[in-house]
Amino acid sequence: MSELPPHVVRNRAVWDAWAPDYAGPGEASWARSHPTWGIWGVPESELALLPDDLAGKDAIELGCGTAYVSAWMARRGARVVGIDNSAAQLATARRMQQRHGLDFPLLHGNAEEVPLPDASFDFAISEYGACLWADPARWVPEAARLLRPGGRLVFLVNSYLMALCTPDEEGVAATDRLRRPAFGLYRLEYPGDSGVEFHPSHGDWIRLLRAAGFEIEDLIEVRPADGAATRYPFVTLDWARRWPCEEVWKVRRRS
Ligand SMILES: C[S@@+](CC[C@H](N)C(=O)[O-])C[C@H]1O[C@@H](n2cnc3c(N)ncnc32)[C@H](O)[C@@H]1O
Repeated sequence: MSELPPHVVRNRAVWDAWAPDYAGPGEASWARSHPTWGIWGVPESELALLPDDLAGKDAIELGCGTAYVSAWMARRGARVVGIDNSAAQLATARRMQQRHGLDFPLLHGNAEEVPLPDASFDFAISEYGACLWADPARWVPEAARLLRPGGRLVFLVNSYLMALCTPDEEGVAATDRLRRPAFGLYRLEYPGDSGVEFHPSHGDWIRLLRAAGFEIEDLIEVRPADGAATRYPFVTLDWARRWPCEEVWKVRRRS
């Protein structure tokens, strides 16, 4: 295992500090029998992130945080592994495993370099995990390596448009103004104590995914329901009803 890259070291410190704020929401998500996704809680029946046939399959969550997505997959009969860069997030995950009587491996590590053999999984997923906080040039090929031919990768993350419109000031919601150039964005660091995010353009994603051996099956621009609510201050419902603030990529490893 090589030394952690600087953005991973920084994101580890940031997420260890933020973990207490994610414990309560994580507990609520663990208790949910029907998955809901992203900051607006869009139902699984609308987005279909999880395959119908997870029972008996090997699945990995890349940047699992409190691991509620892993729990939903385990309850559907998958053999699940979660990996996360934050020991503090994983502490919540382990507490939830005990509370809910579910046991699956939780690895403390970098999703850009997973200590597991090639072709170990049928399905990989990330909801605001590695897909936002790890370098796509590193974690996407790693996901391809971990998947068996025909295996699927699904991830949900802030939209590229959202990244262009989010103000630098913490807690201030996006407006209809472009705040930063699109060309050359890729890596984004807000001022202050925030971590390092990655926001490739759609063209960048397509090239990265295809070069890693994936075929793109879908790109869903998520639209919350009228009346939906979020605990996050960086986007309003009015904005999210007019422009996509989240997107879901569904890709399949070429056979
Ligand atoms: C927002 S949480 C995602 C979990 C959950 N789905 C959620 O939305 O709360 C982001 C997680 O990504 C993890 N993370 C960041 N960089 C990572 C990396 N390079 N490898 C693995 N996990 C990483 C963080 O430690 C954090 O727990």
